[in-house]
Amino acid sequence: MNSFLVNRCICHDASFEEIKEHSEKNGFTTIKELQAEELCSTKCKMCAPYLELMLKTGETSFTPGEYLNRKEAG
Ligand code: FES
Repeated sequence: MNSFLVNRCICHDASFEEIKEHSEKNGFTTIKELQAEELCSTKCKMCAPYLELMLKTGETSFTPGEYLNRKEAG
């Protein structure tokens, strides 16, 4: 069991929960809109695939590499 979960953009010190709320409030549906406001995902971008998944599913906490498994599953 992996206890480490990916739930924030470390570079911007912003939780996916906060980013999700901001997205919903502003009607953002793409990571580019979030990046344009420099809210997240403009530095190392390791969070980008998780944020894509967050925007798609509404989930805010992921196991490491989870986006890879989801892609394979379709
Ligand atoms: S973790 Fe989000 S830009 Fe680095």
